[in-house]
Amino acid sequence: MNYISVAIDGPAGAGKSSVSKAAAQSLGFTYIDTGAMYRAAALFAIENGIDIRNDRETLINRLEEVKIVIRYTDKGQRVYLNGRDVSERIREEDVSIGASDVAVIQEVRDKLVALQRKMARSANVIMDGRDICTYVLPNAQVKIFLTASAESRAQRRYEQLKEKGEECDLQKIREDMEYRDKNDSERAVAPLKKADDAVLVDTTELNFEQSVEKIKELIKNVL
Ligand code: DC
Repeated sequence: MNYISVAIDGPAGAGKSSVSKAAAQSLGFTYIDTGAMYRAAALFAIENGIDIRNDRETLINRLEEVKIVIRYTDKGQRVYLNGRDVSERIREEDVSIGASDVAVIQEVRDKLVALQRKMARSANVIMDGRDICTYVLPNAQVKIFLTASAESRAQRRYEQLKEKGEECDLQKIREDMEYRDKNDSERAVAPLKKADDAVLVDTTELNFEQSVEKIKELIKNVL
C-alpha cells in the first residue's frame, strides 16, 4: 500500500509541532516529530559527558549505543532513549541547543534519517523538521515551509514556557533561537532551507486555529 507523506520544514518556534500534531490528529495521520530524535541524541551526549561541539568523534563512536524509539500512547507521542521515557526532559533549553549541535554531524543525521524514512513507509504521516522536504522525503505529496517572524517565534516560545510555569527570559530565548536558526541554516549537511516546490506558509499573522486550517487545506487538496 502506498501511504501519503506530508513534509513540513521551518525554523525553531514557527509552530510546526503543535500545528502538525493538530492537523494529523484531525486527519487521522501519524505525526512524526523528527526534532525529538535529534533532541534524544543530544541528551545521550549530555548525560554521558560528551562535549558535542568539540568532541564529535566520541559521539560518533558511541552512536550504536543510542537507541531511540518513538511510541504513540494516549498521552501522545513519547520518546524513549535506551528504554527510558525522556519526552519531558528533551524539551529543556540545554537539550534544544545540544540538538542543533548534534544535527550538524553527518553520522547522526544518517542514523536518524534512516529511522524517519522507515516510519514514513508504514503509515500516512505528517513529518516535521528542517530537511524533510529537501532530503528525507523529497517525494512527499505535500511539502510545506512553515515560518513566522523571529520576533513572534520568540514571543510564542516565551508564552509557552510561562504557561508551563517555567522561569524564562525573552531576550535569552531570542538569542538561543538566533543561534539555532544560524546553526541549522548554515551547516554543510542538509541545512534548513525552503524546498523549491514547498508551499510557504507564514503564520506571523495567523492564530493557531487558522494555521491548522491552512495546513489541513493544503493536505486535503491532494487527498
Ligand atoms: O524542531 P526542534 O526544535 O525540536 O529541533 C531541534 C533541533 O534538531 C533543531 O535545532 C535542528 C535539529 N533538527 C534537524 O537538524 N533536522 C530535523 N529534521 C529536525 C531537527
